[in-house]
Amino acid sequence: MRTKLLILFSLLIPIPIALLFTYPRYTEQDDFNMLQQYLSIKEDRLSVMTFNIRLDGIERDLNNHFTKRISRLTKTIESWQPAILGVQEPFAGQLLHWHSHLPNYYQYVGYRYHSMNKKHQTISSEQDFQVAILYNEQRLELLEHDYLWLSKTPRTVGSKDWNSHGVRTLNIARFKLINTDLPTEVLVFNTHLDVQSEQARQEQSKLIRSTINQWQEKYPSAAVLLLGDFNSMPNQTTYQILTFSDFLRDTWIECKSHATDCLSNVFSSTFHGWFGALVHTYGIQLLQTILFTFHGTGVQIPYNIPTHYSDYIDVIKELFKFCRLLNWSDMISSWSSHRFHVDWILYRNSLDRSRYLQPRFISVVDVRSGNYSSDHFPVIALFDYRP
Ligand SMILES: *[C@@H]1O[C@H](CO)[C@@H](O)[C@H](O)[C@H]1NC(C)=O
Ligand SMILES: *[C@@H]1O[C@H](CO)[C@@H](O)[C@H](O)[C@H]1NC(C)=O
Ligand SMILES: *[C@@H]1O[C@H](CO)[C@@H](O)[C@H](O)[C@H]1NC(C)=O
Repeated sequence: MRTKLLILFSLLIPIPIALLFTYPRYTEQDDFNMLQQYLSIKEDRLSVMTFNIRLDGIERDLNNHFTKRISRLTKTIESWQPAILGVQEPFAGQLLHWHSHLPNYYQYVGYRYHSMNKKHQTISSEQDFQVAILYNEQRLELLEHDYLWLSKTPRTVGSKDWNSHGVRTLNIARFKLINTDLPTEVLVFNTHLDVQSEQARQEQSKLIRSTINQWQEKYPSAAVLLLGDFNSMPNQTTYQILTFSDFLRDTWIECKSHATDCLSNVFSSTFHGWFGALVHTYGIQLLQTILFTFHGTGVQIPYNIPTHYSDYIDVIKELFKFCRLLNWSDMISSWSSHRFHVDWILYRNSLDRSRYLQPRFISVVDVRSGNYSSDHFPVIALFDYRP
């Protein structure tokens, strides 16, 4: 009798596990439907995308190599046509290569652009376009540009502090919107915070907050957009530093709270680590809750998907040691929010209240279950920008 029960159990257990990693489903058809809705309301609204396009490196699956992804990336941009596109990670050569495939109206700014402008003929570094801003020159005119290193010495090229694993930067562009009756300016910031050090992410975001403040005091009639890969989840400390007392607003939250005149989808992740649409399933949401909670406490978690079983066991052992750092009520609340986005679009209205950005659309898009553009899915928003 007991053996029969055991057999029955072992046959039944895989069923809930299979369900956990199957639902909810989000298909390429859902993504296509989102695109149709977006195009139907795009008109001349301001469209803004943030997209970690991943560096050009060795990939375990050759189908994920940049040479394979470049045409998919291009197709994604051609479909959604963001007027402002903040990218993260590309090497200089990678960005220039990709740019030659994009529609002609895209211009870009990174570090080298700036240094050449000032006739300082520096040797181009691979990192010069890691947080490049691309823009449609038929919609926007570049008025001013700056570039900072997110360290204690922001003007020192290549500097880093606070145990930051990588050199992290902030790209800044001031644009004028073309074809509007009134002079309209927007300040665009694009960044990529450190992947390993929680202390670095927090200090880097404080520096971003104070930099935005300085720029906006100088240009009080300009609205602000902050795009990036923040390597942390909404509601974690980095997010709170940037959004505290409504300094910056989270387009996702604003859109969801005005659901009658703002369209959005429900897709739980932007980073998918080549799992694709599968990251949206309850099973992977649960895993993400656990990993991100550790990540937020400063525990270093592997930022590559482990390949061997032994690696998984090492990770579990490591996490077990830090279990006491976990706040279960925080974990339950982040699990129930179903939002593990590390890529955000934040905004702030003009200080002189002359202009308002009002979100009309925001979604995680380009969702696929194969033939990926990147190991992140981009986020795109549409704004009304009016007096
Ligand atoms: C966390 O985020 C959710 C929305 O994602 C929000 O409703 C809630 O107030 C936030 N909680 C805290 C403590 O910030
Ligand atoms: C867990 O977090 C909640 C809210 O963020 C807080 O009120 C509570 O005191 C925390 N608990 C522990 C044990 O730190
Ligand atoms: C990926 O693209 C190839 C070639 O275009 C195609 O044969 C294949 O079905 C695609 N795979 C998926 C999962 O879309």
